[in-house]
Amino acid sequence: MTTSIAPSAAPHRGRWWEDATPSASREWAPSPAGPTDDPGTPPPLLGTGRLRQTLRFAHDQGGLLFEGARRHGDIFGVTTMLEKRPLAITAHPDHVKSLFTAGPALAPSTAGQSMLRPIVGDSVLTVTGEPHRRKRKLLMPPFHGKAIARYREQIQEATDREIGSWRAGSRIRLADAAQKVTLDVIMSGVFGIDYSSGEAEQLLRTRLRQLLGLSVSPLARVSEALSMRRSEPVGVQKWGLAHLDRAVMAVIAERRAAHVPGERHDILSLLLDTRDDEGEPLSDGELRNELLTLVLAGHETTANSIGWAFERLVRAPGPYGRLREAARGEDDEDYVEATIHESMRVRPVIPMLGRRVKADWRFGDAVVPAGTRVLIGVLSLHHRDDLYADPFTFDPDRFVGVKPGSSTWIPFGGGDRRCLGATLAMEEMRILTAEIARRTDLKAVSQAAERPVHRNVTMIPGRGGAVEITSVRP
Ligand code: HEM
Repeated sequence: MTTSIAPSAAPHRGRWWEDATPSASREWAPSPAGPTDDPGTPPPLLGTGRLRQTLRFAHDQGGLLFEGARRHGDIFGVTTMLEKRPLAITAHPDHVKSLFTAGPALAPSTAGQSMLRPIVGDSVLTVTGEPHRRKRKLLMPPFHGKAIARYREQIQEATDREIGSWRAGSRIRLADAAQKVTLDVIMSGVFGIDYSSGEAEQLLRTRLRQLLGLSVSPLARVSEALSMRRSEPVGVQKWGLAHLDRAVMAVIAERRAAHVPGERHDILSLLLDTRDDEGEPLSDGELRNELLTLVLAGHETTANSIGWAFERLVRAPGPYGRLREAARGEDDEDYVEATIHESMRVRPVIPMLGRRVKADWRFGDAVVPAGTRVLIGVLSLHHRDDLYADPFTFDPDRFVGVKPGSSTWIPFGGGDRRCLGATLAMEEMRILTAEIARRTDLKAVSQAAERPVHRNVTMIPGRGGAVEITSVRP
């Protein structure tokens, strides 16, 4: 077994998020990976209890990933109630690269089985193969670098509005505050809705906020669990979605009626102009699925990344001081960017990614059979001490002038499924991080690190990135 490549810095205690054990960096040893005809042995299994391991997926993904890496190295198996066959979990960059570059025929994404499926139906996030390729091509243009420049002003305005409402001495949850900004940005980018928009559009904004508020209630968590592995929602989720759908459909109908090709630049307007290979426009249902996907995938992830960034910063006086200095000086870009890269390394909002291998697959010394669901441990990969010295230390300097690697820094995933909104998300995080650092001084509400909490596929700060505002400038 290639156990020598295990992240030796992985903490032995369960509370990995409080760990700061220094460890010497080591050489990174390659590990062969990809389709194979060789018979091989399956990866070693972590524990035996199906129920226990399934519960850890819901509550303690970090604990599971670090324990597996510490005990078995680069690749291990887990039996769960999610699948009959054990899942394989890897955190080696060569294994990751083999999965990202294999393409949809050999290693399709498993996002279609995610909890988002009953909500968004068939969309770019949930379908695979040729339908995915077509949808992705349709949606690419508004997310390209050049198109993102158009959003810059909206992000800046929404950020100014939000920070303008902060008062010295008060306590806020930064993830919630950032969510107001990211929701405004996505609503104007996707639907072209802003504060001056009409009635149907304001109703849609209200309904979305209501559904999002609802989605964190205990009742919603239950119906979320009930909807898992179904393609239709049930319970409170179904009820909330029916309300939201009426509002989405009203906006789509209004836009179709008033549509002048080329007049507006929001994504809904662009999609109204699109034709498929047979020259047919997208149906209302198809439009609804894509738009809802963008809204749901596009704002909480970014907002929680901001929450995590400042959760780390207010507990790291050196980097926080440097960031404020950089943001208040002339030349802030490098350090702001490095801070974002580092916070997404130590606290990736999506801690695991799923692929299903369609051929027998080698991972180092182990081979898994065709059909196995393979999870990439983003969080454990990001904490390998052969990739990052002192991996549990928050140190943005490691990214100053360094471009993160495509199979060693993967908070946005990779290959043909890499996050479609990554450029937009980075722009939002740059502006929010720089403005918060420039205009405010914050301190931790408590010195204890925030515990990671799992919601849907995301890992979010347990207290929402709680801070006290000690000063705020205009
Ligand atoms: C910090 C913020 C964000 C993070 C950490 C994030 C992360 C991710 C990850 C890990 C994936 C799956 C990649 C894979 O399986 O390889 C993904 C997919 C996706 N994301 Fe994001 N995302 C963020 C923001 C956004 C934004 C702002 C949007 C859109 C407005 C967006 C839209 C999407 C879509 C549509 C997909 C599916 C892509 C596909 O399957 O082809 N995301 N994202």
